[in-house]
Amino acid sequence: MPLDFGRVHRGDCLELFRRLPDGSAHLAFADPPFNIGYDYDAYDDRRSADDYLDWSRRWMTEVVRVLVPDGTFWLAIGDEYAAELKVMATRELGLTCRSWVVWYYTFGVNCRQKFSRSHAHLFHFVKDPNRFTFETESIRVPSARELVYGDRRANPSGRLPDDTWILRPQDLPEGFSADEDTWYFPRVCGTFAERSGWHGCQMPEQLLGRIIRASSRAGEVVFDPFGGSGTTLAVAKKLGRSFLGFELSEQYAARIAERLAAIRPGDPLEGAPEPLKSAPATKDGRRLDRNAGGSRRKRQTKQAERR
Ligand SMILES: C[S@@+](CC[C@H](N)C(=O)[O-])C[C@H]1O[C@@H](n2cnc3c(N)ncnc32)[C@H](O)[C@@H]1O
Repeated sequence: MPLDFGRVHRGDCLELFRRLPDGSAHLAFADPPFNIGYDYDAYDDRRSADDYLDWSRRWMTEVVRVLVPDGTFWLAIGDEYAAELKVMATRELGLTCRSWVVWYYTFGVNCRQKFSRSHAHLFHFVKDPNRFTFETESIRVPSARELVYGDRRANPSGRLPDDTWILRPQDLPEGFSADEDTWYFPRVCGTFAERSGWHGCQMPEQLLGRIIRASSRAGEVVFDPFGGSGTTLAVAKKLGRSFLGFELSEQYAARIAERLAAIRPGDPLEGAPEPLKSAPATKDGRRLDRNAGGSRRKRQTKQAERR
């Protein structure tokens, strides 16, 4: 039986893909397990590299099949498999990589014998290099000229973001402790905010907002084979897209259904979308964080470890 839209389906994505016809989605966003031993409810994130790569090939092949001919696929992935999955997507599956975005966050766990991790990779793939959706107007950000230098010659409609996207302390005050002394006020950046959640891998709504606004239009279908906490589907619903997702865990799928039920199209995304609005002076930023800490902090640390 074909799958309904507007909801998450519980089950193994490879099984569920069989019920999704070719060309069903305009945009697919996938944030799969990274195979780094993260503790999921129903999935074992410790596979041999060969097994993980074989599995990735299978589900990515399905993603390509269910995309429309001018569709887009965004893949979030960690260092461990970024290179191999990019080669697989482009050389084996015939996708074109438009951008290799680095998502930089400043709350990575301190490591003793290697550099602390503070980034993940976001690959922007398209099926047809000559025909794809890229709606630039909806994702423009203020330019450095305007934001930092107050230059009247700055283009009032801003500019496209760079390919390094930054999650800053003021976007996620609870992710930083009061004694942290590095604060970032990028000249022009993407800003992402974290909704406090129950899934350790929850992505910021603003990050998905940028991706969905850029790579799909109102009414088009946004698809996510690894639902997690449901951020992709939640943002798709808020932005007036049609949507569909899969999630292996019964518990996560139930929570996604609850999250979606509480959302109406047109609801605002969580977090501050504009640096101009969300960039307090450093001293104010420090005040922001006074009450942060405790269990929230631990949860974010766990997330940072995974990312
Ligand atoms: C990294 S999380 C996704 C997080 C999500 N982007 C968010 O913002 O909440 C990956 C999810 O994939 C799910 N998963 C793992 N294997 C799966 C499979 N074979 N089919 C469907 N979902 C699966 C896991 O249960 C986990 O919730």
